[in-house]
Amino acid sequence: MDCTQNLSLGDPLEPVRKATAQMLHERDHTFSLPQPFYNDERLFQVDMQEIFHKEWLIAGMTCEIPAKGNFLTVQIGDNPIIVIRGAEGQIHAFHNVCRHRGSRLCVSDKGKVAKLVCPYHQWTYELDGRLLFAGTEMGDNFKLSDYNLKPVNCKTAGGFIFISLADNPPAIDEFLSTLAHYMEPYDMENTKVAVQSTMREQANWKLVIENNRECYHCNGSHPELLNTLLEWDDVTDPRASQAFKDQVAECTTRWDKDNIPYAHASFGLRNRIVRMPLLKGTVSMTMDGKQGCKKLMGRITDPDLGSMRILHLPHSWNHCMGDHMINFTVWPISAQESIVITKWLVHKDAVEGVDYDVARLREVWDATNDQDRRLGEENQRGINSTAYQPGPYSKTYEFGVINFLDWYSERMLNNLDDTPAQNLRQVAGE
Ligand code: FES
Ligand SMILES: [Fe+2]
Repeated sequence: MDCTQNLSLGDPLEPVRKATAQMLHERDHTFSLPQPFYNDERLFQVDMQEIFHKEWLIAGMTCEIPAKGNFLTVQIGDNPIIVIRGAEGQIHAFHNVCRHRGSRLCVSDKGKVAKLVCPYHQWTYELDGRLLFAGTEMGDNFKLSDYNLKPVNCKTAGGFIFISLADNPPAIDEFLSTLAHYMEPYDMENTKVAVQSTMREQANWKLVIENNRECYHCNGSHPELLNTLLEWDDVTDPRASQAFKDQVAECTTRWDKDNIPYAHASFGLRNRIVRMPLLKGTVSMTMDGKQGCKKLMGRITDPDLGSMRILHLPHSWNHCMGDHMINFTVWPISAQESIVITKWLVHKDAVEGVDYDVARLREVWDATNDQDRRLGEENQRGINSTAYQPGPYSKTYEFGVINFLDWYSERMLNNLDDTPAQNLRQVAGE
């Protein structure tokens, strides 16, 4: 028996996996999903296995762990993860699980350590995951190198830290090199999180993302956001006015002069980057549309950079302006609960109270997040009804939702077919 592996009690999810695949094959992709995708705990487990344990996720920003020994932790379903800056400045990710008896090593969201010391029996690991010390209690034959921390795939680009729990994560390098190019003006290593919020939402993670992928609901719900946001993100949008097209032409001429990237870049349906102007006369997502931070980011000299929007499925969207950027990530908790983390980043030398005021910086998106939370929770409550049946999306106003669910469905079917349940089982004696 291989005692290094987990034993399994069999796979009770196998029928759920089959039913999930069948529902995805049979769905009408212009309609919302069948009810179990939004509220069934077993289907939620399949979502976690096939999406959140296999795709690339944004664990945080590199500026959050600026120096050797700085770490941050995230929780992906049942899996606690540490992301830590090593001795040479490189960033590593590990399962936050001691190789002795499995205790969590780092218990805080962020911190700084010289070594990773387990709080239970003080096994001690180097910042690169090597086990350095396990006392003398383990006996003479104990080999430290058999018990290094388990690594997690980790890549950085443009100030973002991406991690994946997959054995063979999906290809992402092409997107990352484009992301690095688009983020270059922001010099993200020299930024800081001015403030962040953590919001619990009683809604399935897909409802949170669906809500984010359309602005059909904006007029009815987001007065603060619409002080500055223009809904369209393309001059080819059938709703785009001539005035909007003229504004885009004026802005892109200016951005070209400063070498500020703006053109649409797409990588399948998973990633999308585009810079679009904000409402004419406004430069930042604040209540009055004026700068939220007096000090501009990186090498930027023109505050009017509109907003560069970055989508990373399954769980992140971002707005990058001239004076600050906002990073949003969604973390599923259960079938009907998610956490949304929002981080507002500014130049690292910007001084609170002088260059920016936190309350002013966060006001618009605090209000918007809360409005979206209510919408998501009401959506969830209605979907839980026996009366719910999938409803049609508008191809003009909700194409972003269709794209998200097409991506989700493609990844689910791909991953479900690639990993039949028997491959996931480790049975004693095998
Ligand atoms: S569980 Fe970590 S040292 Fe014992
Ligand atoms: Fe919204």
